[in-house]
Parts: sequence; structure tokens; C-alpha cells
Amino acid sequence: MQSTSPLCSDRPPALPASREIPAAMSGFEPLAHDERATAYLTMIRRYICGPASDLPESSTATHAQAGPFTADDCIARLAEADRRFAPWLQPLQRSAADVAGIEPARIAAALNHMHHESHRLTMCSDVLLDNVVSLARTVIDERVPGDFIETGVWRGGVTILMRAVLNAFGAHDRNVWVADSFEGLPEPDPAVDLREAIWHDLMGAVSGLRSDLSAVREAFARVGLLDRRVCFLPGWFADTLPRAPIDRLALIRLDGDWYESTRVALESLYPRLSPGGFVIVDDYGLPTGCARAVDEYRALHAIAAPLVQVDRQAVYWRKPC
Ligand SMILES: C[S@@+](CC[C@H](N)C(=O)[O-])C[C@H]1O[C@@H](n2cnc3c(N)ncnc32)[C@H](O)[C@@H]1O
Repeated sequence: MQSTSPLCSDRPPALPASREIPAAMSGFEPLAHDERATAYLTMIRRYICGPASDLPESSTATHAQAGPFTADDCIARLAEADRRFAPWLQPLQRSAADVAGIEPARIAAALNHMHHESHRLTMCSDVLLDNVVSLARTVIDERVPGDFIETGVWRGGVTILMRAVLNAFGAHDRNVWVADSFEGLPEPDPAVDLREAIWHDLMGAVSGLRSDLSAVREAFARVGLLDRRVCFLPGWFADTLPRAPIDRLALIRLDGDWYESTRVALESLYPRLSPGGFVIVDDYGLPTGCARAVDEYRALHAIAAPLVQVDRQAVYWRKPC
């Protein structure tokens, strides 16, 4: 955490003149008062949630199909999935729609959410972003030692906010770790998890959430936040997380959607979470296997700390001191 890793950025790359950012957002000085911290974080939140229409094409044009998606589009996609996954569906005498577990109109709504947000740097709602700021501030105020990490960053918005929180509250001895394949979600094996494999197929409509590492670095740089405190872990979690040179963590945010992505992240990172630190699980309420991975891990390690609901989908818990 306190050490500088070769994975960390040394300095922001020079910005092209056309993408200069307002002076107020660059060269940020530590803030003395809550009011200034709040104003700064509001500005950063506007940046990660606002339409980033002047971002390079590579950072936003990753969708395989133009939205908005309708229920009929999803019915057609499910029919296609019936054919593609027939070897696994037929013995079960089930359809792809059955196994997906959600009716087509709600699948369309989920895809549209990702599509609609396609010009944002995060798909998280205000409630989820409030939760990140609040828990990050708690560990800073209470001096819980360790870095922050998000596993599954997509376009990096939440990790940009985490880095901004360090500035806002003068926590200059912590790093923010940015872990993603930058190739989208891994393809689940239908023989192991048919539901996730079908969801992966449906997510093809939004390019399986593929993002781009250089665009994420640029998104940090545009607000003066790409520095040696930002450490990238590009690659599959199973390869990057177990050997990541992270000493201690104070805040872990899991947002990798699948069972295996959640399981690997918990196994690799929870032992490094300081007592008093938090784990946020974005996807606990999804129909994928995330909740199963969390429940299994908590049962295996006799973790009794209560799960706190953030919204219909996300939860967090605090590691006991
Ligand atoms: C739902 S998106 C994350 C959304 C993001 N946190 C935000 O604020 O909008 C899920 C991300 O997890 C990544 N991901 C999922 N499983 C992964 C794995 N096993 N290894 C690496 N990246 C993974 C995907 O590439 C994708 O960018």
C-alpha cells in the first residue's frame, strides 16, 4: 500500500490541448474543509456520471448493437440462445428464458441501462456512489489502514471517485487499485454454469462490457487523478489478484458479476482486508452466481458480520475488529 509498485502510474500523460480540463479540476490541492471536499467530489461525480461525449471513440463505442433494446429484441436473442445452448438445455427440458430467470422486458431494461449509460464512466447510481464515498470516508476518519480496490471497473468511474476521495480527505498514503480484464466479462462454461453462460450471451448486445485500458487511464488523467497512487491490474482476476503486490486493504468493491469472478476476488483479497475495513458487493442481487460465491465464502470462514443492503442489488459488510 504505502510502497510504490511498478504497476502504479508515475505521472499523468500530457493532455492534448483539445481535452484540457477546467483549472478547478486540475492541480488539486488538499482541502481543509468539508465544504470544499463536498464541492470537489460533486464535480468529480458529475464528471463520471455526465455524458463524456468528447471522450475518444475507443472508450465509448464498444457496443455491438445500437439500443434501445425492446422485449422483442430479447425474445429473439433468447430464441437464438435456445439454439446455441441446446446441448445443455435439452437434457434439462428447459428454455434459455427459463434459465436466465428474468422475463424479456426486464432483460431489455438491464441492457438499456448499460446502453443508456454508455457515455458514462460508471453504471453505478447515486445511491451506490454515496455508499462508496461514505465507507471510504469512514475508513479514512477511523484510520483503518490499507488501500482501496475495485474488481471490475469497466470505464473506471468508481475508481476515479475513490482516488478523488483520497484527495478530498487528505489521505495521501493509500493507493487505489484498478482491476479489470479490459476485455469484458469472461465467458462462463455452460457445463459449469448454464445461467451465467446464457447471460454472457445476452450481454453480447453490449459487447460483454468490454472497456479499454488506455481510455480508462485517460479518464483519470483528464481530471488530474492519474498519479502514482493509481495502480492498474489489467488481466483476468485469477491471474492478477492472487499475486497483486497489495499489502493491506481498507475498502474492497467487488463488481465482476459472475460466481467465479466474485469467488476469486474474495479468496485473494479478503485475507488482506484490515479489521474495520469494508467489502461492498455490487452484484449480490443479480440472477448470476455472485451471491452464491459470497454466501459460500462467508459460511466457510464463519463470517457473521451482517450484510447491509445498499439498494436492491448491492450489499456490504464490515470486517470485525
Ligand atoms: C458490471 S462491469 C463493472 C461496472 C463498474 N464497476 C462501474 O462502475 O460501472 C463488470 C466488469 O468486470 C470485469 N470482469 C468480470 N469478471 C472479470 C474477471 N474474472 N477478470 C477480469 N475482469 C472481470 C469486466 O471486464 C467488466 O468491466
